[in-house]
Amino acid sequence: MLDKVNELIDEVNAFSADTKEEIELFRIKYLGSKGFLKQLFSEFKNVPNNQKKEFGQAINNLKQVAEEKVDSLKVALDNTTEQKRIYGDLTRPSEPIELGSRHPISLVKNQIIEVFNRIGFTVSEGPEIEDDWHNFTALNLPEYHPARDMQDTFFIEKNPDILLRTHTSSVQVRYMENHQPPIRTISPGRVYRNEDISARSHCIFHQVEGLYIDTNVSFADLKQTLLYFTKEMFGKSKIRLRPSYFPFTEPSAEVDIYWGLKTETDYKITKGTGWLEIMGCGMVDPNVLTNCNIDPTKYSGYAFGMGIERIAMLLYQIPDIRMFYENDKRFLEQFKSVI
Ligand code: DAH
Repeated sequence: MLDKVNELIDEVNAFSADTKEEIELFRIKYLGSKGFLKQLFSEFKNVPNNQKKEFGQAINNLKQVAEEKVDSLKVALDNTTEQKRIYGDLTRPSEPIELGSRHPISLVKNQIIEVFNRIGFTVSEGPEIEDDWHNFTALNLPEYHPARDMQDTFFIEKNPDILLRTHTSSVQVRYMENHQPPIRTISPGRVYRNEDISARSHCIFHQVEGLYIDTNVSFADLKQTLLYFTKEMFGKSKIRLRPSYFPFTEPSAEVDIYWGLKTETDYKITKGTGWLEIMGCGMVDPNVLTNCNIDPTKYSGYAFGMGIERIAMLLYQIPDIRMFYENDKRFLEQFKSVI
């Protein structure tokens, strides 16, 4: 009999519960009107007299332990409930984690890279802080050349000139200085010009430069590459090449794509002509090849350069270039569904 009581005391001590219901069931089992204690008390009269004292102490002890257990479990449960109410689940992140989106400049840049990767172009990069040689002189733009006026420059140091590159054509020079033909590379990157900021132009923007040098490269190769690109990028296969001038290419051309005149926006962005200018290009001037230690009697090549913002504005119908740099979440969130 006594052993049974001691066993129950051990059971009570070992008991634990996480919910109100479990505690209540426990209370009923030990302290309820049909519980163990009630039964034990009713058996008290059958206990031999000489054992009554010890048995009585044991069941009183069981009663006390059981009551204390119920009280302490209730307090512990109240505490955790209260803590949960105040702090919630402490292991959870404090804010819901929102899925971000890629910046439209990155989206378009990656798309351009992907299109050229497919025809064997690698990606190369160069520094944004450049010297005069790589940004101008090696590209057939010697000091005092009037064509330098085409690109208002931010100078960092004078004599020797250190500046923020005005175009990614500087990467062409770096690439040719370090690689021999065949060369097929595109160079995306940020460029800087000392221009007033408006809806159409900014002092910081992005370009992708393309360069292809090998034996027997002709203008026809350039045109075919441009056709492939415009088709893949815009789904348009009508282009025209207008004669133009860049010091680093000869001959040089401006590439227009036929955008069409279906909507009012088409009229607006093409100024009623249906044509849109998207990049500059040409055959690399032999002087540039010589400057970069490539023999112009053996090799020829073409180059092109385009503005990423301009293309992103066209593809996503973005009316103001400044939106790219404001980091307004309402603007950026719109690109969530684009991969
Ligand atoms: N660097 C020129 C610019 O920033 C763009 C350009 C035109 C790059 C013709 C070229 C090219 O490689 O062949 O306006």
